[in-house]
Amino acid sequence: MGVEVVVEGLGKSFGTQAIWRDVTLTLPAGEVSVLLGPSGTGKSVFLKCLIGLLRPERGRVLINGVDLCTCAERDTYEIRKLFGVLFQDGALFGSMSVYDNIAFPLREHTRKSEKEVNRIVMSKVDMVGMLGAERKLPGEISGGMRKRAGLARALVLDPSIILCDEPDSGLDPVRTALLSQLLIDLNAQLDATILIVTHNITVARTVPDNLGMLFRRELVLFGPRELLLTSDVPVVAQLLNGRKNGPIGMSEERDTAEDPALPPEDPDNVRGIVPQLEPTPGLPRRDAVRRRKLRLMQSLHTLPTPARQAVLTTMTPTDLDDYDTWRRRTSAIPIATRKTTTPTTRVEEPAPRSRWWSKR
Ligand SMILES: Nc1ncnc2c1ncn2[C@@H]1O[C@H](COP(=O)(O)OP(=O)(O)O)[C@@H](O)[C@H]1O
Ligand SMILES: [Mg+2]
Repeated sequence: MGVEVVVEGLGKSFGTQAIWRDVTLTLPAGEVSVLLGPSGTGKSVFLKCLIGLLRPERGRVLINGVDLCTCAERDTYEIRKLFGVLFQDGALFGSMSVYDNIAFPLREHTRKSEKEVNRIVMSKVDMVGMLGAERKLPGEISGGMRKRAGLARALVLDPSIILCDEPDSGLDPVRTALLSQLLIDLNAQLDATILIVTHNITVARTVPDNLGMLFRRELVLFGPRELLLTSDVPVVAQLLNGRKNGPIGMSEERDTAEDPALPPEDPDNVRGIVPQLEPTPGLPRRDAVRRRKLRLMQSLHTLPTPARQAVLTTMTPTDLDDYDTWRRRTSAIPIATRKTTTPTTRVEEPAPRSRWWSKR
């Protein structure tokens, strides 16, 4: 199963340039989360802080009880083995075949025989749908295939945590949809904790369990998808609904000319909560879904009403039975009225971990 990543009061600067401050969030084990934010807000810097490639000046990043911000170099090295990272451009070695690129971490970090390396590489090549292309050079395949090859390489050491930095950038809508499905399928198969950085609102609205947004050097909001998709925080509503008007402007915090701060989707098509992607039929169900529903029920009373109602409409009788079992085990105060899935259900007990999500 994936590993929980706890970020507490994180702050990072370069010289006098503050990138962001006081970032607090938890990536729940085995769930998929998306981090949004205009260009230049420090999303890539954040990912690098999570894997210990950059050291923040303030705060903690806790993984398996180890604080990556202060631990010894040796511990950083061990913790880093839990991660698989897909860099923005795939970061493949141009002179190596796709096969050798994917085999690289295994040959560098393990003592596996070439037979074993072959078995693992080919299973990951299959997983990302690239059978038959493994002997090609990165220059001989499309951008979408390079991303998938980068993803296969991120998977070979069986990571518990997968970070994807703009996996959809430069992909057409069809390739982006296929990649979104692939990420959900991988989550169903591996139960790894996944964090995706993206600008794409369709990905943000359909893929993750949790959403967060960095803006103007702060984490505006991080929490369950229902929280952000129903949010009336102006910058969140603007970005997730693709509106022209709002706090984000064309010149806002941009760092590259080709990277638009506003996504191009038709704003009329993207209102409200859309269903989350399911794994491809035939694959296992995502374990994270049930764990997440139980956690959401435990912290339901802390969510604003629209998010609470949206969460309740997703609950099945089985989910509510899970919650009842948890409640009996922990002697929590019962749900005020158990009219099950109706949005009017009130849940009033104080719950543990009620503020795993964060708000400015
Ligand atoms: N190693 C570094 N040294 C100095 N400044 C950096 C470094 N890495 C990133 N930055 C600066 O941090 C800011 C955020 O960068 P980045 O994380 O790449 O943004 P995003 O991924 O959100 O587009 C930018 O202004 C960038 O110039
Ligand atoms: Mg970036």
